[in-house]
Amino acid sequence: MIKINENYLKLPGSYLFSEIAGRIRKYNENNPELDLIRLGIGDVTRPLAPSVVEALHRAVDDEAAAESFHGYGPEAGYEFLRSKISEEHYGRLGVKIAVDEIFVGDGAKSDTGNIGDIFAADSTVAVCDPVYPVYVDTNAMAGRAGNYRQADGRWSRLTYLPCTAENNFVPELPSTDEAAPELIYLCFPNNPTGSVITREQLGLWVDYARKNGSIILYDAAYEAYITEDLPHSIFEIEGARECAIEFCSFSKLAGFTGIRLGYTVIPRELKVDGTSLNSLWSRRQSTKFNGASYLTQRAGEAVFSVQGQKEVRETIAYYQANARTIYSGLSKLGWQVYGAVNAPYIWLKTPDNMGSWEFFDYLLEHAGIAGTPGSGFGPCGEGYFRLTAFGTAEKTEEAVARITTLVR
Ligand code: MLT
Repeated sequence: MIKINENYLKLPGSYLFSEIAGRIRKYNENNPELDLIRLGIGDVTRPLAPSVVEALHRAVDDEAAAESFHGYGPEAGYEFLRSKISEEHYGRLGVKIAVDEIFVGDGAKSDTGNIGDIFAADSTVAVCDPVYPVYVDTNAMAGRAGNYRQADGRWSRLTYLPCTAENNFVPELPSTDEAAPELIYLCFPNNPTGSVITREQLGLWVDYARKNGSIILYDAAYEAYITEDLPHSIFEIEGARECAIEFCSFSKLAGFTGIRLGYTVIPRELKVDGTSLNSLWSRRQSTKFNGASYLTQRAGEAVFSVQGQKEVRETIAYYQANARTIYSGLSKLGWQVYGAVNAPYIWLKTPDNMGSWEFFDYLLEHAGIAGTPGSGFGPCGEGYFRLTAFGTAEKTEEAVARITTLVR
């Protein structure tokens, strides 16, 4: 008899952002006259940079002529984009990443979700709590679900590292009494809390991973929002090439949430039991993925031009101003507010000890604002709420004004 993958039955009924979209849709249907402000999923609202649009048009023209037409591309991405990532992005950070260590894909969501394919099904995993739900759900799909400590003291297959106001939402190293988790997901600037990690703190994680033979899966999707002196890449940290994989995205860097483009960096020296993870991922990608489209990669290349950089930085500054608007507006109400300074997310303690979902409903019904309940990101997110800075400036100001009126 045919059997399904029963691991899927251990997942929540729907993906967090699908659940929220469903609730908002229902609310909208019942209140069609209300002007809803969406500050829930971190989806951008500004149009693509003019340089990117021009590059897309040129790429379409290439595809329209027999001499410049492109069919299947290299699975790991075109050299023209990978060399720009190596020279412009990593070069600027003073980090040496070779072209063949870069795998271009359709976004960090897919790659952080798929990377588990190259590790054993019984690998032990640690994630922050709260956490971007993709890491947890994809590990659960692979059979690494469960949040328990095993009798022999080994880590459960999936363990949460608490991130609270007390530790500035940066996880502490696991106790040395415990067996070290084999895979450790870190995301900084953090989704959902907007917290950041210093070079010293990240250095401790790198040392821990090297000492214990763990691999850090480092999600750097929000690095473009850093305004202070903080690491943009884990590879700025000595020793990270022996213990880390990094995931990057054009979504929040250049507004590609609808276009889809990202990349994953796996250093050549990163090995498990003598097997190169770069080769394994290459094998996985060339079998299951046919590469990001030529058009998309030309668009990504344009992001690194001088003019492209100027344009995307202007858009990032626009969202950073939104983050400041929300942060200062809510702080003035006496609320405890976090994030925003180096991240496009604002993380707040719900007022009057409301539950996260209770506050979600309250804000939706009384202010027509949709955010994301902190508990959707993990148990430590209960009593917290996330707003994004990716709305328009007008709607962002309007949202703060509505909340202020509601509270006063
Ligand atoms: C979020 O809202 O957490 C992100 O936009 C989701 C994503 O990037 O997939």
